[in-house]
Amino acid sequence: MALTQLQISNVRNLQQVRLQGLKGVNVFFGCNGSGKTSVLESIHLLGMARSFRGSSVKSLINHESPSCTVFGTTVLDLPPPVADEGAAGVGVGTPVGVQRNRSGEAQIKIGGRAVRTVAELAEQLPLQVITAESFGLLTGAPGARRQYLDWGVFHVEHQFFGQWQRFQRSIKQRNNLLRRGKISDQELTAWTRDLAQTGTAISEYRKGYFQILAPCFKEIMARLAPSLGALELRYQQGWDRQLSYSEALAQGFTADTEQGYTHSGPQRADIRVMSGGHLAAETLSRGQQKLVVCGLKLAQGRLMAQLGRGKCTYLIDDLPSELDNAHSLLVCELLASMDAQVFVTCIDQREIRSVWPESEELAMFHVEQGVVRRHSEE
Ligand SMILES: Nc1ncnc2c1ncn2[C@@H]1O[C@H](COP(=O)(O)OP(=O)(O)O)[C@@H](O)[C@H]1O
Ligand SMILES: [Mg+2]
Repeated sequence: MALTQLQISNVRNLQQVRLQGLKGVNVFFGCNGSGKTSVLESIHLLGMARSFRGSSVKSLINHESPSCTVFGTTVLDLPPPVADEGAAGVGVGTPVGVQRNRSGEAQIKIGGRAVRTVAELAEQLPLQVITAESFGLLTGAPGARRQYLDWGVFHVEHQFFGQWQRFQRSIKQRNNLLRRGKISDQELTAWTRDLAQTGTAISEYRKGYFQILAPCFKEIMARLAPSLGALELRYQQGWDRQLSYSEALAQGFTADTEQGYTHSGPQRADIRVMSGGHLAAETLSRGQQKLVVCGLKLAQGRLMAQLGRGKCTYLIDDLPSELDNAHSLLVCELLASMDAQVFVTCIDQREIRSVWPESEELAMFHVEQGVVRRHSEE
């Protein structure tokens, strides 16, 4: 999927922004505080109904406005660069819109139809984000790595989301029962059985995806950071590998009832990135860790395309300040080879021009005090 046009209303300092004729690579440059990251946040709002900054919805809405809105048109593939820009691509495709107000409500529309789940939105516009915060993927809590993994499973395995929802419900119910202490055996047995079933299913989906992700990541890292040597991904399912989930739940029953929650299961899964047999998060330098995170994100996009599940759109905030020139170049080369649509920000446009392959046509936009203008090629 790719975006051909975008209309932003009242996202932070972007009061009214209209962008047409979006290309494969779209660069937003301008000084600090001009609104560059807010453009990426707006696209994220369109694909996920929320920001990637982890801040509240309220902080995303312009101070003077009761709500913020983003409209976009998505197409399966961008039209090939033609002389008459804007002639193709615009007008066809699927209109997508997201509005959020101060009380937190979200209105989502796809093709004019009101949609209730963010899952449908995510299918319409699969996004990968690379920002200063996303570099915590390696060093942060396992939850972010599970989210990372589930993003991939979600986009590759259509049954996954339903199972994931069922799993969330089962574990919540089981934990509620355990916490209350006074347990009806019958009820607990029923929820435990359900949890074992759905937990096994989502774990199988994750495992299946992981098995194809790991070699893809290896390949990308060999290109991105050959000096790092042998990097390896390991998947931990969240309970003893020798046991079925049902057996693990049975074994943990006493501890679960004593402490009032479910100890083992897919909610404890994690991905370990190993470098030369050691945890990458504990051995690699910060710069090397950033490369690993880029590799993880690039691997998911490439895999999705390889499996015929469409292309994802990359949002990259301030690439030049995160990676040195040589590595920015490699990241951009990989992105160009994947033919993924990219939205990237930087302060000085020259920093980005120098890292994209020459063959790539860039759409440049200058951002200044919340106003975004197309910057014509000289
Ligand atoms: N809710 C809001 N309403 C209005 N302006 C905001 C809001 N939140 C942040 N801003 C302002 O928006 C500007 C754009 O921020 P940002 O997109 O992070 O800039 P950049 O990435 O270009 O450095 C900042 O000057 C910030 O003060
Ligand atoms: Mg910024």
